[in-house]
Amino acid sequence: MLYIGVDLGTSAVKLLLMDGGGKIRNIVSKEYPLSFPHPGWSEQNPADWMRQTVEGIRELVQGFDAAQVAGIGCGGQMHGLVALDEHDNVLRPAILWNDGRTAEEVEYLNGVVGKQTLSRYTANIAFAGFTAPKLLWMKKHEPDLFAKISKIMLPKDYVNYMLTGVHCTDASDASGMLLFDVERRRWSREMLELCGLREEQMARVFESYEVVGTLKPEMAKALGLPETVKVCAGAGDNAAAAVGTGTVGEGACNISLGTSGTIFISSEKFGVDPNNALHAFAHADGSYHLMGCMLSAASCNKWWMDDIVGTVDYAAEQKPITDEKLGANHVFFLPYLMGERSPINDTDARGCFVGLTMDNTRADMTQAVLEGVAFGIRDCLEVARSLGVDVRRSRICGGGAKSPLWRKIIANVCGLTLERIESEEGPGYGGAILAAVACGEYASVADAAGKLVKVVGTVEPDPAIAARYDGQYRKFQKIYPALKDVFPALKDVFPALNG
Ligand code: XUL
Repeated sequence: MLYIGVDLGTSAVKLLLMDGGGKIRNIVSKEYPLSFPHPGWSEQNPADWMRQTVEGIRELVQGFDAAQVAGIGCGGQMHGLVALDEHDNVLRPAILWNDGRTAEEVEYLNGVVGKQTLSRYTANIAFAGFTAPKLLWMKKHEPDLFAKISKIMLPKDYVNYMLTGVHCTDASDASGMLLFDVERRRWSREMLELCGLREEQMARVFESYEVVGTLKPEMAKALGLPETVKVCAGAGDNAAAAVGTGTVGEGACNISLGTSGTIFISSEKFGVDPNNALHAFAHADGSYHLMGCMLSAASCNKWWMDDIVGTVDYAAEQKPITDEKLGANHVFFLPYLMGERSPINDTDARGCFVGLTMDNTRADMTQAVLEGVAFGIRDCLEVARSLGVDVRRSRICGGGAKSPLWRKIIANVCGLTLERIESEEGPGYGGAILAAVACGEYASVADAAGKLVKVVGTVEPDPAIAARYDGQYRKFQKIYPALKDVFPALKDVFPALNG
């Protein structure tokens, strides 16, 4: 049989066709626009996701026997607020995971309701990108629209709803809403009440590998697929990527270098970081995980390459960065181009180069960008280590992971052995695996991931380079605290522009 994995990302939807033995038979990618209507805001039109997903699936299965397609599984960008009215029409553009408009609501939730209370209800505290603060923002700034909300969906759940007609979500993605009791895997009555919501406005919660429904007849027709195709609940993109990289079981770790950068540590038992700097979420295999999330990772390099340097040849720009230069750069880069989530939780933080001198080259700055992201990942890893989590190996996936240099920098900055896997399509491959489990092709997520995910290469840290990077990391750690109070003041320069 064949399974379709959907990776509903921030810049594009990536679709992949996998056979029952785990072989990828076809891949299609379809882009859609992302809009920043004010500095720090980030929105997308759910109709664009749908249009490109439908077109993408049609293209994906062309030339294959559609009757062989058994299931669809989606890994989607997390936290996005999709508000539907009573006719299931979208009320406003989706407010995305990297949107920073909710600073006031976050302050209210963490400061007035209190971090301890939030953590007791949901295992997490408020971060600007999470869904609950966005609902409070809508309640205050768009009360008429808020009053019309009949269903609250996450991005991939909206796609699943359009495919099946079922208002569904899964435990991993629901975890990022701050409305979900992660430990008990159910909606938190207290949080719903606090946000002025009713339980019937929430979707039904499934496990990621469960079937939520089959294709609606008109959808089956539009996609050119049989109506019998099963759609599974799928997962948040990080949990889906963890499945797609085989990151299941106690202590397994995955680093994803996509638009966001995440470090995901799987855990068989529920556990919370007492300072809530790391997210405590449900995993797509029925267990749990801790996760740190940087809002800009591969996107920092994309911005630097595409918009500033003006090139598409990333490899050529990285060529002058040879081994002896690693750990010896006096330029540093703070990767906070969209503010930052983990671990600093600061919507005002901004990107910057620090330490420039007349002799600096473009390559030094390119290196600083790659290193700044690696230091950000290490910041999250250090929180996990401070909790006694002993991580020494990690899988790595996402667009940024294609660069051998960036993999080497991360391995050395973090002191981790990095494992590259055959399919770099983390969330899409994970989505297809979840669909295969839902359709009964495999007994469990662990069974499927164990049989299908293959390691094709490892990067070991080099003791000399890693030691140099330790020193560099200590310097990096001093930069944000020194600038922290400057960032809000920068915002005041053009208050009108900052909304
Ligand atoms: C995770 C997060 C991001 C998005 C990116 O908490 O916000 O990784 O899921 O798609």
